[in-house]
Parts: sequence; structure tokens; C-alpha cells
Amino acid sequence: MSNKTDTKRSNFSGKLGYVLAVAGSAVGLGNIWRFPYLAAKYGGGMFLLVYLILMLTFGYAMIVSETALGRRTGRGPIGAFRAFGNKLRYKFGGWINAIIPMLILPYYCTLGGWVIKYLVEYCKGSTAAMAEDTYFTGFIGSAAQTEIYFLIFAVATVAVVIFGVQKGVERVSKIMMPALIVLAVIVAIYSMSLPGAFEGVKYFLVPNFKNFSIMTVVAALGQMFYSLSIAMGILYTYGSYLKRDVDIEKTTTQIEIFDTSIAILAGLMIIPAVFAFSGGNPDALNAGPSLMFVTIPKVFESMGFGTAAGIVFFLLVFFAALTSSISLAETTVSTFQDELGWGRVKSTIATTVILVGLGTVTTLGFNALDFIKILGMGALDFFDFVTNSVMMPISALCTCLLIVYSAGLKTVGDEVKLSSKFKREKLYNFFMKYLAPICMIIILLSSVANVFGWIKM
Ligand code: TRP
Repeated sequence: MSNKTDTKRSNFSGKLGYVLAVAGSAVGLGNIWRFPYLAAKYGGGMFLLVYLILMLTFGYAMIVSETALGRRTGRGPIGAFRAFGNKLRYKFGGWINAIIPMLILPYYCTLGGWVIKYLVEYCKGSTAAMAEDTYFTGFIGSAAQTEIYFLIFAVATVAVVIFGVQKGVERVSKIMMPALIVLAVIVAIYSMSLPGAFEGVKYFLVPNFKNFSIMTVVAALGQMFYSLSIAMGILYTYGSYLKRDVDIEKTTTQIEIFDTSIAILAGLMIIPAVFAFSGGNPDALNAGPSLMFVTIPKVFESMGFGTAAGIVFFLLVFFAALTSSISLAETTVSTFQDELGWGRVKSTIATTVILVGLGTVTTLGFNALDFIKILGMGALDFFDFVTNSVMMPISALCTCLLIVYSAGLKTVGDEVKLSSKFKREKLYNFFMKYLAPICMIIILLSSVANVFGWIKM
């Protein structure tokens, strides 16, 4: 990556390398699978608006904070918290950041397995069969099938982490990512041109206050954490590798633009198509997590060159998912290495045990183990909820408290100002001090209350 003979160029590629690395981790199933269904479920344009506001204020502050603290301390989350004290609260703050990726990885691989299945079936030319309403439910109802595909995806992830061919994957994803954008644009244009699709475009892009509820904010916040890979230690770690001359303010903006564009494109692929195929029936939007696996095949089937489109699309989604899942696994492995002093092999084995154990429970939660309900949720929804709606607000709150009361806002400010004017410093300070903690507490309480049925939102 570095080019010693040409320092100017090496500086640039250092920055580009960083933006691409973070974008590669950020862009994944969160953008293509999770964002569209949440937007559909929680108010369309209203959700989009809330998401954008949160991302530009809160998300921005969180990315800057984590990156700057990582660079300052030269440590991942646990070490960064410890750099400011040894009390229990610092340990808690560090570990909650580190545990979240361990809980996301298993269900990420469940979904990754579904993506492989779809890729395989498109390669076999089952385009028409896959467009049937019952195809998806039939597939996830099969314990043997889903478990096998889950294991394939999990093994692929762990294999890359062991053999460390990450460089190779990154090279591939530099081609795959632009290809994904081009294909997404084509599919989005096609999807918007379907008869009846315009209502969907309107629903997705135009905010309607009737669709607002506190759950819109809760869901948008959880999605923002998930999609930008914040509140889970990743950016501390990446920040710790970052050179001092890279402008954190600018890279943060670029990462946000990249990640959000892909999420919006995915929304434009899926939501108008749902309207077109359901004859405008909004109930179809409640398909939830399965939206991508039900709607996209219908679009492809109607396209004429659907088999080819299906192969390319799911191949690209597969790569986006694999690069993200690799960095989730890497983070877990490096936490074990750094904090428990384990070797790489032992750490990888431990990660695999957690991954296969929890992942199997999640995967079979749709068939053999579907009687297991935690708080009324299946395993996948439960892990998704616990991490995104409960743990991430707490972990983000820990980061805010660490900065405001221990590290000091000035520490972050000074670090950012090493290489940037930090034009938004006042805004940043205001947000970290007042808005963020209050927002997070409200959100945490309301999402928990919602699950226990204490309040109806
Ligand atoms: N941001 C990724 C996505 O949109 C998923 C993800 C969440 C992730 N947390 C992560 C990826 C941590 C890598 C590291 O799909």
C-alpha cells in the first residue's frame, strides 16, 4: 500500500486505503438487506429523513470520536478505554464495544448462507421458481439446507481470517464494489420504471408525518450504528492504524456519503418493486427481513435477462457480505489475542466455536428450533435487536461518557486538529455533551419498553 519512493502519492493512497477499508467494512448486508426493509417498515420517507439527520449529526460525531480516540491511544476499544483508567466502568465500556461484533457475526453468517443459496440457484437457472411467493419460506423452512449454506459461509469467513488472504479479498472488493454500484443503478432504474412503482418511490423519498413514531427514531438509530459499523469498536481499531496526517473530518464525510448512497440505491431497487408487485398493497412491506429474498427475485424474473442479473447481483452481495463478515471475525480474533493473550490459532478456534454455536441456533431458528422464542422474537430478530437496539446505544453512551468526563472533548479536538481545521468542532462538542447522552437514554428505554409491551409504539 505504501509507496516509499513517492511520498505524496503514498500519503494519498494511505488516505484512500483507509476510506476504502472502512467503506468495505461498512457496506454489506446492512445496506442492501437491512436498510430497505427497515425503511419500508418504519415509515418510508420519514425513516429516511430521520436516518439522514441522525447520520449527519450523531453518526458523524461517533465516527470522529472513535477514530480520534483510536489514533490517539493507538489501541482497539478495550485498550483505548483502559488508557484513561482502570476502574470497572472503563473495562465495561471497552468490553461492550468488543462483544457486539461477536454477537453480530453468527447471524450475519446465517444471512450470508441465504445469499449463497440464491447465488447457487441462479447459477442453476431456477429464476422462475425463485419468483414464487413460497420459495423463500420453503427454503428457510429446511433445516438441512439452511445449515449447510450457513456453514459454507462461516467456513469461507474463517478461512480468509486464518490464511490472511485479506489483501486478496480487498483487491477483489475494489472491483466488486464499483460493479455493485453499477448493477444497483441499473436494477433501481428498472424497478422504478415498473407500472405502479411510482407510489413506492414516493413512499420511500417523501416524508409523511403520519408515519412518524418513536420507533422510527429507534430503528433509524440502530440501523445507523449497524450500517456505519459504529458503537462496536471497529473504528477504534481502524483509527489506531491511521496516520496522523489523514484528515479525519474529511474521511468521515466520504465514508458517510459512500455508505448512504448504497443504502438509498438499495431502497430504490426494492421498495418501488414491492409496490409494483403487490399492486400498491402496503401490507406487503411488512415482509421484514425477507424482503430482499422475496422481492428481488420477482424483479429479476420479470426482467428478461433475469438469470444473468440474478447471478451477478447475488455474487456482488456475497462479496459485500463476505468482506464485512471477515472484518467482524477479524475484530473478534484480535480482541481475544490482545486481551486474553491467546495465540492466533486459539483465538480463531474460539471465534469459530462462538460463530458456529450461535449461528446454528439462529439458522435453525427458522425451522428445527422455531419453537425457541426469546421475548417473542426468533433468534435472528433477537440477536439483531439486542445488539442494535440495546447494546449499541449503551456502548455509544460509554464512548460519550469516556470523552466528556475522562478523556475530555479537547483530547478529541486536538487529535482531529492535527490534520484538519475541524470546522464542526462546536457542533461536535454540543452534540457529545448534551444531545447524544439524552438521545441514547431515551432510545434505550423506549426500545426496551416496547419489547416488554409496557408502551405501544
Ligand atoms: N456495516 C456492515 C453492514 O452494513 C455490518 C457490520 C456491522 C459490520 N458491524 C460491523 C461489518 C463491524 C464489519 C465490522 O452490513
